[in-house]
Amino acid sequence: MPSASSVTFSRFASGVTTESAFDVLAVAKKLISQGKDVFELEIGDSPFPSSPSAIPAAKAAMDAGECRYAPSAGLPELRAAAAKYMADEYGVQVTAENVVVGPGAKNFEQLFMECFVDPGDGVLVFTPHFPTYPPNIARRGARMVTAVLSEENQFRPQMRDVKRFLASDPSPKAIVLNTPNNPTGGVATRDDLVALAELVRGRDIAIFSDEPYDRMVWTGKHETPIALPGMLDQCVSAYTMSKSYSMSGWRLGFAVSSQRNIQMLGKLTNTSISCVSPFTQRAGIAVLEHDHDSRENRMRQFHDRLVKLVEQLNAIDGVRCLMPAGAFYAFANVSEICRVNKIRSQGLAMYLLEEADPKTGVACLGGECFGEAGQGFLRLSVAEPPDRLESAAKFMQQAFAHGDRIAGYLAKNPQYRL
Ligand SMILES: Cc1ncc(COP(=O)(O)O)c(C=O)c1O
Repeated sequence: MPSASSVTFSRFASGVTTESAFDVLAVAKKLISQGKDVFELEIGDSPFPSSPSAIPAAKAAMDAGECRYAPSAGLPELRAAAAKYMADEYGVQVTAENVVVGPGAKNFEQLFMECFVDPGDGVLVFTPHFPTYPPNIARRGARMVTAVLSEENQFRPQMRDVKRFLASDPSPKAIVLNTPNNPTGGVATRDDLVALAELVRGRDIAIFSDEPYDRMVWTGKHETPIALPGMLDQCVSAYTMSKSYSMSGWRLGFAVSSQRNIQMLGKLTNTSISCVSPFTQRAGIAVLEHDHDSRENRMRQFHDRLVKLVEQLNAIDGVRCLMPAGAFYAFANVSEICRVNKIRSQGLAMYLLEEADPKTGVACLGGECFGEAGQGFLRLSVAEPPDRLESAAKFMQQAFAHGDRIAGYLAKNPQYRL
């Protein structure tokens, strides 16, 4: 237990919530260290090594002495490479001045809120949602307003919710869009985004478009709102090397917007992290320039694993799982199993990890880790190799059949009672 102190935490810190994937990861690692065989489907990380060009480029940059401060907005060459990526992949004609570099995509949640949102402002978030949106909205003293993504609508954002937010919120200021969506795999279509742009164009409304899974769209193709007329001025789109290039530990990403917005995001970077290390940025330039084919090959592997996992999950009694339109998670509806056993889905997830079997476990996340709208679902990432994914699904099938064990777990952990 931390020791008592005369110094009180801020109201924000006292109430801060964190990404629970990391908590489940810690339990899984502890069980593994005690000898348990755990199928690790809890964390959204790529199982592949860093994209091939990353390490040689970073080493060369270190040897060349690139170990000092870099410009806050990023190295001009990385900004230019990112602008070319936007033109090549999405037809967005931007230049290096439209790009700011950051340590992954997550940091842009904070900078976006600092850039546009004042205390009391309303920020619309579609839920289930990435768990660090609420703290980054709370940091600014703003209000999170939620709209539910539902299975019937393939977890696509509904524009009637945007209309309602704009019409009824006392101070609407920003909308957070995440396509492909983590955890649901929902993907906004071009029509959705055209309708969104029509609703906000010319108004004092900013969009944060969180796009870490932009290379993982399995149905249709990835669409970004900044490609639409007028939206460069009103939208900040965030990208990362973490998922497409298997570089989560490097902490590297970038955001794209109008030059005016990017200058402000550069200033805010200056006042916080100063800059991303230049040798990391050199790795980013190298992968953008050279690793297109290996990236697409890895994306195909994620897709193939997902197709199989979804099929195996659907073969389990009481489980229903849509093939996600994007991202590398299966978001399985287990509400029937939850109802029968009177257990919340996060309880079911912890049961699979801790109690279903003494020697083996599956680590995954209850949908509640992404807000209450996720109750009744489990999120499983396809980080493990295909044969392990198949064994994990078989394990789940058997574990769900043991109502007595689930009841025993619930008796010891009543917080998970539905
Ligand atoms: C929706 C979403 N946003 C942001 C991030 C953070 O990515 P990064 O590692 O680039 O900070 C993730 C990672 O899981 C994510 O799923």
